[in-house]
Amino acid sequence: MVEIGADGRTWLLSGPTSSYGLRLGDEDELVHLHWGPRIELADAEALAAGPGPEYWAFEATLDGHEEYPVEGGPRFVRPALSVRTPERRGTEWRFEGYETDGADPEGGAGGGELRLRFSDSGLGITLHYRMRAGADVVERWVTLANEGPVLEVLRADSATWTLPRRDGWRLSQLHGRWAAESRLVRSELTYGEKIIGSRRGHTGHQHLPWVALDADGTATEELGEVYGCALAWSGTWRIAVAQLPDARVQITGGAGYDDSGLLRLEPGESFVTPVFAGLWSDGGFGGASRAWHAYQRAYVIPDADQDRPVLYNSWEATEFDISEEQQRALARRAAETGVELFVVDDGWFGARTSDRAGLGDWTPNPDRFPGGLEPLGDYVHGLGMRFGIWVEPEMVNPDSELYRAHPDWVQFQPGRKRTELRNQLVLNLAREEVQEYLWEQLDALLSSAPIDYVKWDFNRSFTDAGWPGEAYPQRLWVDHVHALYGLLDRLRAAHPTVAFESCSGGGGRIDLGIMARTDQVWTSDNTDPLDRLAIQHGFSQVHPARAMAAWVTDSPNTQLNGRVSSLRFRFVSAMAGVLGVGGDLTRWGEEELAEARSWVELYKEIRPVVQRGDLYRLRAPEGGLSAVQYVRDGEVVVLAWLQAQHYGEPAAPVRLRGLDPSASYECLETGEIHRGAVLLHHGVRTGLRGDLDAAVIRLRRR
Ligand code: GLA
Repeated sequence: MVEIGADGRTWLLSGPTSSYGLRLGDEDELVHLHWGPRIELADAEALAAGPGPEYWAFEATLDGHEEYPVEGGPRFVRPALSVRTPERRGTEWRFEGYETDGADPEGGAGGGELRLRFSDSGLGITLHYRMRAGADVVERWVTLANEGPVLEVLRADSATWTLPRRDGWRLSQLHGRWAAESRLVRSELTYGEKIIGSRRGHTGHQHLPWVALDADGTATEELGEVYGCALAWSGTWRIAVAQLPDARVQITGGAGYDDSGLLRLEPGESFVTPVFAGLWSDGGFGGASRAWHAYQRAYVIPDADQDRPVLYNSWEATEFDISEEQQRALARRAAETGVELFVVDDGWFGARTSDRAGLGDWTPNPDRFPGGLEPLGDYVHGLGMRFGIWVEPEMVNPDSELYRAHPDWVQFQPGRKRTELRNQLVLNLAREEVQEYLWEQLDALLSSAPIDYVKWDFNRSFTDAGWPGEAYPQRLWVDHVHALYGLLDRLRAAHPTVAFESCSGGGGRIDLGIMARTDQVWTSDNTDPLDRLAIQHGFSQVHPARAMAAWVTDSPNTQLNGRVSSLRFRFVSAMAGVLGVGGDLTRWGEEELAEARSWVELYKEIRPVVQRGDLYRLRAPEGGLSAVQYVRDGEVVVLAWLQAQHYGEPAAPVRLRGLDPSASYECLETGEIHRGAVLLHHGVRTGLRGDLDAAVIRLRRR
């Protein structure tokens, strides 16, 4: 819902529990009024009428107060917008007008959008604010439309968020690296700027584009105010959290890392920034996560009301050494264990018998699949499963037909080395002929066989991002992402029954932008079931279980650390997201297969609650005992893991959340009846013991 003050210069957007207010001053300065609990328009007007900031010569009145600080004038904060022409740099805007939609027929929970239009010498700048029905997330983005002379956009952030004055703030972030993504850390914010981002051309394993802040470090998992921001962009990005000299805190974020030039706008051209979404919650970190999850299921992830199938992926079992017969054998085993989607990973195409060749040639390897993929696809369908394949379309191996034909289709700098990582180069997707080639190849591939699922990988970062012959080569950083989105959108429209998974060497491309175009993401190449608990804990801070793919692989873990763990522990760890199996099933014994089958059966029963329920993180993984809980329509699922039991120390009962204290709950495992108040305040016993033990507890409200 959007409300407008009497003089048409104060605006208030409200969701179910929160409001966001802003005000246009006498000199067209746009100042922030409020972001926090839901307030009324009269409150926003009172804030607008209150005393303005104090001013003296060495500080700027506007710093820390503006909604979107442009470069120029008396401002010393990091500008969200920085543009230049041959004559001038910076912006001095005039307000032109506003539009809103979102008068709320339901009386408060309906969505609404506010657009504020400014201009400077022919450059139109529109600030967008949108709240979706039933959600407290504020989506902000900016449109630049150039009707003036050509100009260079050095920086165009999506939004600047302003926090209320508090004594201090604590910052939560998700950092990582390959095979150890989304690690949650919290630290006190101090004066200056904290910058996170990626200079790699993709979102990166190093940081998820998300931050959360709580005042004075007072929030807990279930209590306290938390502010969060998440960027919907899958390329190079930056989020700067600044604590200004007067202790005010602002968070500015958008596409691009450096301010050395994002794009050039010719007369008549425009640019729309990605969305930078913000959320205020007073339900602690858990409440904030649940609000983010509900928002993504309702407005970001395609078809999130449909459960994702249990998949099998052949990568860890076979790596590059694949054949049709061996895939059929794996498929039979997968079908026996109850798998619903069988995915052939790398190695099925071109001359791809190792990572040294083949990327770029998206036709089946004739030695390995003499009849193409259709016979295997039909066979998999005949076993009652859907059929999926792996691709990495944005890349090329120098040893490929594509590269031999078009060596100039990659990103490169003339006369410089073409840096290979994993023996591959990055295609210049900004080039239209490259987009067209990929569209034709992938469209033909999806039409050539009964393919229901595509795992879309991206296995190296940009290094030599040049574009010889192009007047403004650095535009490829932004254009690459738009081309990727365009390709995915076009393929989805042409093949509406095909689902997509975003992968980038595991979790190197996870953000709200890619999630709007893919059905699930590959969380990490690390499938160790214990390491995974910490990765999943971080992932769940912002993204829902419905998108978080997790596989059960072999023990000892063949990929990384050789850890030995029970099938029970591996399954219960992977059941916290979209369950998959990735072990070499041809080596599993009958007993293991039978056990796997019963876990898959159990997962299918709890799946609607896990994938679409509300998540409560009961205990974080750093302790010996960790647990999560999902609740949906009176159905409750608890997953609990014990890393190691110490002698004489039985695992503590786990206190549940989100239940009705006055209701009774039946445990589906034991038939016992538990009282809600007892589960909430005293907890449930998990029966966990020894090392690496795990349990599933199902409860149903009576
Ligand atoms: C990446 C992915 C893996 C697998 C390999 C195949 O590393 O993250 O899951 O698909 O590529 O080469």
